[in-house]
Amino acid sequence: MKLLVCGGAGFIGSNFVRVRLRETDDEIVVLDKLTYAGRRENLEDVADNPRFSFHHGAIEDPAAVGSAIDGTDAVVNFAAETHVDRSIAEPDAFVTTHAQGTYVLLEAARERGVRFLQVSTDEVYGSIAEGSFSESSPLQPSSPYSATKAGADLLVASYHHTYRLETLICRGSNNYGPFQYPEKLIPLMVLNALNADRLPVYGDGLNVRNWLYVEDFDRAIGHVLEHGAAGEAYNVGGPDECPNIQVVRRILALTGNDESLIDFVADRPGHDRRYSLSSQRVRALGWEPRVRFEDGLEHTVAWYRDNSWWWEPIRSGAYRDYYQRQYGRALG
Ligand code: NAD
Ligand code: TYD
Repeated sequence: MKLLVCGGAGFIGSNFVRVRLRETDDEIVVLDKLTYAGRRENLEDVADNPRFSFHHGAIEDPAAVGSAIDGTDAVVNFAAETHVDRSIAEPDAFVTTHAQGTYVLLEAARERGVRFLQVSTDEVYGSIAEGSFSESSPLQPSSPYSATKAGADLLVASYHHTYRLETLICRGSNNYGPFQYPEKLIPLMVLNALNADRLPVYGDGLNVRNWLYVEDFDRAIGHVLEHGAAGEAYNVGGPDECPNIQVVRRILALTGNDESLIDFVADRPGHDRRYSLSSQRVRALGWEPRVRFEDGLEHTVAWYRDNSWWWEPIRSGAYRDYYQRQYGRALG
């Protein structure tokens, strides 16, 4: 297959590109705007692969999309603004990328009859105190991030219903692993612990997330692309859930630190308490997660410890200003 991978220079997209080049014969075209979160460094190891090419451009730009999509068999759309805290501070780009961007991509796919997979999130269902959401649970998003992602999901579904475009949606739980930008919980805590910065835990630290190793999500997306039923959504949850404070304690132990580095800080406004997905549908299709949280976290901590070339430029660049604004304190 020849795939257009939008947002392929980000965390999950770049790992997807690596997995597909390694495990399939796919040809991959990446289209990416290279926002603060999209980095050529994330694709450095595949840059010379003859089955890989890169286009710099935005999904909301019809000309950029038109030249990247021609000749492809399917689109996988990872392109998004992805951080809840940034969506609370500055929602603008979330609306542009998720609403207008997804629309432009869908139109280009419809004109050419190209299969379309939208990468989405468990956050579109909102918070759940007990039990798990299925694909038919109502969408009740609570942040500008999740609300605009939910809007994109509905638009994708409408293109199947109205135009019979072959669409698929994969809703993943919280991903972690190599190449994740350190605004998200796990890489932020790992890098702060490795650099003896304080670890800012929101609220009481008892919010629960369901952790999915990035390559497990990427294999689920590939599996759904190949075997999924057009018009369907598929939940993809990880094997383990964990309260944030336990995640932080494990990271402290894996980096040889004690709990005196923890700071309980003001809670995120509208902070969802717990996410949980039932993944029965994608499991029935033949996908299983391979990586338990304990092992994936150990591997992830080791990757950050061994790859300072990747994160040092981030931590010494514009990220410092973001961190100061978000946490009201400087990184060391
Ligand atoms: P990321 O922030 O690491 O990467 C996003 C990528 O999209 C970047 O390369 C960025 O440059 C690119 N991008 C942003 N706006 C764009 C635009 N307008 N045009 C083209 N490219 C653009 O995000 P991620 O964590 O890799 O998430 C990828 C997808 O997976 C997103 O759709 C997200 O909603 C979804 N998702 C993420 C998680 C998670 O835990 N990170 C969980 C479930 C689903
Ligand atoms: P995050 O990685 O931002 O993912 P999401 O909000 O999309 O689930 O946050 C994961 C959890 O960690 C969430 O409950 C918020 C919490 N959190 C902190 O306690 N401190 C932090 O500095 C960050 C970034 C997140």
